[in-house]
Amino acid sequence: MKEIISVRNLKKYFGEVRAVDDLSFGVREGELFAFLGLNGAGKSTTINVICGVLKKDSGEVLVDGTDADGDASAVKSKIGVVFQESVLDRELSVSDNLRFRAALYGITGRAFAARLGELS
Ligand SMILES: Nc1ncnc2c1ncn2[C@@H]1O[C@H](COP(=O)(O)OP(=O)(O)OP(=O)(O)O)[C@@H](O)[C@H]1O
Ligand SMILES: [Mg+2]
Repeated sequence: MKEIISVRNLKKYFGEVRAVDDLSFGVREGELFAFLGLNGAGKSTTINVICGVLKKDSGEVLVDGTDADGDASAVKSKIGVVFQESVLDRELSVSDNLRFRAALYGITGRAFAARLGELS
């Protein structure tokens, strides 16, 4: 089975702090993969690099063959992320939360109505 996420020799430092220091692993397509470690081990930093939120210092990170450093929006369109803390707005209805999130991806108006219809 092909590797859907490939991390090779990833390094990300914050000044003197070696948040991620020469990390390598691969996740195969369809595989359930748990990424565990002590507090401060570098999990969030690694995930942020994979998602294209943070630039790596060195190494190779590919999501379905795409390098987030080269084309972050291409990687973002291939992945879904559930954050540690809720990012939903409690003042909004479920539908309005979906409308707001969709707008961030440029899905508005009739296109949004069609996508919402797929979920109902
Ligand atoms: N923006 C930043 N600036 C400076 N240091 C940072 C930054 N982000 C993370 N660090 C440091 O990098 C190291 C790795 O942090 P990271 O948040 O990736 O760990 P983690 O494995 O997700 O921890 P936790 O289990 O607590 O969520 C820690 O020492 C942290 O203090
Ligand atoms: Mg974390």
